[in-house]
Amino acid sequence: MVHEDVLKVILSKRETRIYADKPVPDELVFKVLEAGRLAGSAKNRQPWQLILIRDKKNLQELSRFGNYAHHLPHASFAVVVLVPDKYVHDRFDAGRAAQNMMLAAHALGIGSCPITLQDEEGAKKFLNVPQDLKTVVCIAFGYSAEEKRKGKVARKQLDEILHFEKYGNVGMMT
Ligand SMILES: Cc1cc2nc3c(=O)[nH]c(=O)nc-3n(C[C@H](O)[C@H](O)[C@H](O)COP(=O)(O)O)c2cc1C
Repeated sequence: MVHEDVLKVILSKRETRIYADKPVPDELVFKVLEAGRLAGSAKNRQPWQLILIRDKKNLQELSRFGNYAHHLPHASFAVVVLVPDKYVHDRFDAGRAAQNMMLAAHALGIGSCPITLQDEEGAKKFLNVPQDLKTVVCIAFGYSAEEKRKGKVARKQLDEILHFEKYGNVGMMT
């Protein structure tokens, strides 16, 4: 494994919201799902369930349950990540599975964007999700049709978020 390449994938992941009208082949969809399945989790509970959505009609319908989900109908596929939300780590674990899938997709040349389904009850009903599971996030995937972004990445600087040894000891990394 060339570790530099892994790092490049991690550091260059940005969200993609405009998708080419080109399906992602099944074998790549499978690899993305595998990346989610193989994520680590607290006590190895693997609390997640994943719903794969590829039918355009269903992507369109599902987009009605998010306030910022206009790009969802144009995705090649989407994955909804569900957890029981019973243990304190469940959502963290869901995030690990979600990020694994998005990074794997990025490594395979596939763009993605997490989408919140604000009308969770509506989304759950539509997807036949049992009451005891929470829809943590929906992730849209597809080949990018976006222009390459220019300029700096919109992120806080390290000195805005980093504390040395104890909270409040701020400064610069040497
Ligand atoms: C939990 C979560 C929910 C998000 N929900 C949405 C959403 O509903 N719609 C959307 O367009 N982007 C959504 N995003 C994407 C964020 O807006 C994005 O990660 C952030 O703006 C950084 O984007 P960039 O990596 O392209 O700079 C969500 C991200 C996360 C982590």
